Amino acid sequence: MPSPDRPALILGATSDIALAFARLLAAEGRELILAARDPARLDAACKDLTLRHGVKATALAFDARDPASAGALLDSLPLLPSLVVSFVGWMPPQDETARDPELARAVIESNLLGPAWALEEAARRLAALEGPTAIVGVGSVAGDRGRARNYWYGAAKAGFEAVLSGLRQKYARSRLHVMTVKPGFVATRMTEGMDLPAALTLTPEAQARLMLAALRRGRHVAVHWKWRLVMGVIRLLPEGVFRRMRF
Ligand SMILES: NC(=O)c1ccc[n+]([C@@H]2O[C@H](COP(=O)([O-])OP(=O)(O)OC[C@H]3O[C@@H](n4cnc5c(N)ncnc54)[C@H](OP(=O)(O)O)[C@@H]3O)[C@@H](O)[C@H]2O)c1
Repeated sequence: MPSPDRPALILGATSDIALAFARLLAAEGRELILAARDPARLDAACKDLTLRHGVKATALAFDARDPASAGALLDSLPLLPSLVVSFVGWMPPQDETARDPELARAVIESNLLGPAWALEEAARRLAALEGPTAIVGVGSVAGDRGRARNYWYGAAKAGFEAVLSGLRQKYARSRLHVMTVKPGFVATRMTEGMDLPAALTLTPEAQARLMLAALRRGRHVAVHWKWRLVMGVIRLLPEGVFRRMRF
């Protein structure tokens, strides 16, 4: 686990999974820095974390689509975090994305370039610290195989996973741990209104617990066992079969 004497920085902290993860860290007594495009939306969450767990929690501004944002945020902190987690992601409707190159660019920037760049900036700073540190990127099983339903989002998540894999190798000889999280379905704002199979859908709290347990165990990739099975099968399907499937 990353040193407990430094804060954790959570990027994309308005996400339901991010807030559930922040509550778990706060319960362990860890100081939190919650970052989002509109940090005012996090004021209530910060107050609640401090009230319930007695930890310091600060909300700061961060926009993943601004390449200068992560570096500036990290350099503005009085004490560098030992853990940086990116929950940043965005999935607009696929049919709109497939007709609008600016929307496609925004999907790539929001799910790949932005969060990957933020973690690149974080990795360089955290690997130079003395104690154990970690960066965690939340990708998606959607990156495992392009589907008609969400292939622009899936392609960005696949690229994000590749960057995290590269960072893991790059820092293998340092004390920086690099973990990739690949959720399946989670009941959040992103999936609101979708008809998700209950047996394969996690609550934000369950997803957050899975991530923290994986981080404690020093896992490199965190996937729920059911999704590991599902995607294992999906990946093995021959193209001739896969292309005719609708799911
Ligand atoms: N829910 C699922 O079933 C599911 C499945 C697989 C993977 N995931 C991944 O899990 C992560 C969390 O998603 P969620 O389900 O909790 O949905 P969510 O509430 O929509 O969370 C996405 C987060 O990303 C932030 N974000 C988007 N663009 C940003 C930008 N340019 N700069 C900074 N922050 C930005 C959002 O901030 P704003 O509040 O400012 O919009 C929000 O905090 C995402 O990476 C998502 O792709 C979710």
